[in-house]
Order: sequence, then C-alpha cells, then structure tokens
Amino acid sequence: MYRKILVGVDGSTSGQKAFDTALGLAIEHGAELFVLSVARPPEVGDDVETEAVIENSREYHRKLIAALEPVVAKSGVQGHFEVTVGHPAEQIIYDADRHGVDLIVVGDRGRSKFARLLLGSVSKQVVQYAGRAVLVVR
Ligand SMILES: Nc1ncnc2c1ncn2[C@@H]1O[C@H](COP(=O)(O)OP(=O)(O)OP(=O)(O)O)[C@@H](O)[C@H]1O
Ligand SMILES: [Mg+2]
Repeated sequence: MYRKILVGVDGSTSGQKAFDTALGLAIEHGAELFVLSVARPPEVGDDVETEAVIENSREYHRKLIAALEPVVAKSGVQGHFEVTVGHPAEQIIYDADRHGVDLIVVGDRGRSKFARLLLGSVSKQVVQYAGRAVLVVR
C-alpha cells in the first residue's frame, strides 16, 4: 500500500507517462500525490542573463504543473504541486525525503534531444541515490 507518491514531470512524453502511472497508482492506493517540476539553472552566463533564463524556465515548469492540477483534482486524489530550481535528480530526492514519500515515479527518458541512452541521467541518478522505492515508467 502506498500512502505518498512523488512524480517528476519535465514536459516530455515519458514524463507524462510517469504522471499518468503515478496518478493511477494514487487512485488505486488512496495515496497523496506530489507533483514536482524542477527548473534547471544554466551552467554558464552572466548574472543578469542567468536570472532571465531561470525565470523563463520557472514559467515553463509552472505552466506544466498548472495543466496537471485540474487532472488530479478531477480524480479526487489529494495533490501537492511544486516548482523548484536546481538539479532535477537532487531536487526529486530531497523533496521525497522531505515529504517522506514511499514511492518515486519517473519516466525512462526526458526532454533531451540526444536519445543515445536507454535511461536518462535524471532517472538513472534517482534510482541510484534515492533511499526509497523508485518506479521507472517505460
Ligand atoms: N526537470 C525535471 N523536473 C522533474 N522531473 C524531471 C526533470 N527532468 C527529468 N525528470 C524526470 O526524469 C525522467 C527522465 O528524464 P531524464 O532527464 O533523465 O532523461 P533525458 O532528458 O532523456 O536525458 P538527460 O536529461 O540525461 O539528457 C522524466 O521522464 C521525468 O520523470
Ligand atoms: Mg532531461
């Protein structure tokens, strides 16, 4: 029985699939659902530019989350929605710890244009470093 489930969404098809699965599980288990989307700060750039890029990215992730809120509400599941800024895997693990969730759900791939790997670096790191159950949706 899962009581708290966290899902990471990034706007990709795979992330959407992870969300659908997580919501289905939350309905089945009567669990709370934590939906997290992480805006990544740019690796280089001056301060002014960095701020603009972060704000732009935050807005993208906010819209993403906003589109999912009514879907969760309609299902009757108790949902929590959050946009944070940082490294996605780190933020997912940190948030999962903070809320004491018993399952993390992620997709196998994300928005990366380089489909060279079977598993994206975010899902790979979450599986590797999260001290709790992780479901990778393919
Ligand atoms: N910024 C993010 N916020 C929340 N969840 C994320 C974020 N990025 C990825 N995820 C989660 O991780 C899953 C796998 O995405 P990942 O980023 O690992 O793959 P990728 O984009 O194909 O590869 P990479 O980013 O390593 O180049 C996504 O389907 C989503 O569930
Ligand atoms: Mg990615």
